[in-house]
Amino acid sequence: MNPRTGSRVKGFYGRDGGSLFFMTPSAEKTSVRPVEIANRRLRFRSDRTAQFTESVIREMTRLAMECNAVNLAQGFPDFSASEDIKRAAMDAIAADFNQYPITWGAKPFRDAIAAKYRRTYGLDYDPEREITVCCGATEGMIASMLAVTNPGDEIIVFEPYYENYSPDILLAGAHRKLVTLRPPDWTFEPDELRRAFSSKTKAIVLNSPNNPTGKVFAREELQVIADLCQEFDALAITDEIYEHILYDAASHVPIATLEGMRQRSVLVNSMSKTYSVTGWRVGWVLAAPDLTDSIRKVHDFLTVGAATPLQQAGVMALNMPETYYTKLASDYKSRRDLLLGLLDQVGFRCFRPDGAYYIMSDISKFGFPDDFTFVRHLIEHCGVAAVPGSSFFADSNQGATLIRFCFCKKYETLEEAGNRLRRI
Ligand SMILES: Cc1ncc(COP(=O)(O)O)c(C=O)c1O
Repeated sequence: MNPRTGSRVKGFYGRDGGSLFFMTPSAEKTSVRPVEIANRRLRFRSDRTAQFTESVIREMTRLAMECNAVNLAQGFPDFSASEDIKRAAMDAIAADFNQYPITWGAKPFRDAIAAKYRRTYGLDYDPEREITVCCGATEGMIASMLAVTNPGDEIIVFEPYYENYSPDILLAGAHRKLVTLRPPDWTFEPDELRRAFSSKTKAIVLNSPNNPTGKVFAREELQVIADLCQEFDALAITDEIYEHILYDAASHVPIATLEGMRQRSVLVNSMSKTYSVTGWRVGWVLAAPDLTDSIRKVHDFLTVGAATPLQQAGVMALNMPETYYTKLASDYKSRRDLLLGLLDQVGFRCFRPDGAYYIMSDISKFGFPDDFTFVRHLIEHCGVAAVPGSSFFADSNQGATLIRFCFCKKYETLEEAGNRLRRI
């Protein structure tokens, strides 16, 4: 399209120093205003992507790198994964586990997943018909939503929520219904939850232990959710990636273990957090055979499969002894207590998490206009990155007095962040 005349002409856009131009095959060159290009390029932006922005968490990581800030924004460990698990991955590559796996997961890995759920929760999943290995919980969640919803269906989400769920729901063409978790304990009103359910409800997303709040849903709360799922014929799509990161008296109950919920649950999990390998991108979805059929189809065409050698290493990981998980939780408890203490010393009002590895903190007393301004100040002035609280809410006016820190970091990283935060 010639940008001046609007007629269809073959050619290309280019840049000459600072100015943009349009060049036809006969070398006729026309200058173009950037706004014209921007407007014309909108033709190539799908409506579905126009409805959400880039991840704020990952944006904060980029900013942290630019400013050389301690990154307490994105939830990935800066310490090593287990030597045994790493060795298993290297051995698998050396032993030539390097080609496509079976699309729904290497058999030994699916067997290890089934055995772990039997051992830990007494849950029986058939590796042949009920387990799909995918590229992290991220793919597990979106593949599940794409597999079970039709445009117009509703999906309930507790707010504040992990930022991926919104784009997942949008990409699936479904509508998001929000139910508030109220601080300080991040409890929900059963009546509000009931009002969110309707004949259009296809599923509720349940993330426990929860990111960003650290809430671990109690059995009684799960029962309320389970009863509503059964009354309204809905599924529970559960993100359980922090299942082993629990503090004090908290315990994790998969909603699939509640009566009547085994067939109504789509349980999503991954190796990322439990084995400190967030870059491996290996996760899984457990669901009844009919649901698994659809999930596997979506998964196959989205990604084909998760990395073959890393699935082999996953067999070793999922067979770790109980002591591995106890130590994981007790190490994270020490890190949580350390960061809670450091944040308290510099004046943050923190919401103490019962699980996962994040601390939501109230920033009202610092007198900044909003969470983004405050986080930018933290990154640029103190050299510590966190996540603005509003990124966990649908309405960005909410959460403006909150920010989230993560503590999946070495003790010295947390100490360094504590020292830097004294500059606030
Ligand atoms: C609640 C929650 N779900 C999913 C993910 C991503 O999981 P994965 O690395 O397995 O894709 C994260 C990462 O921070 C998370 O906090």
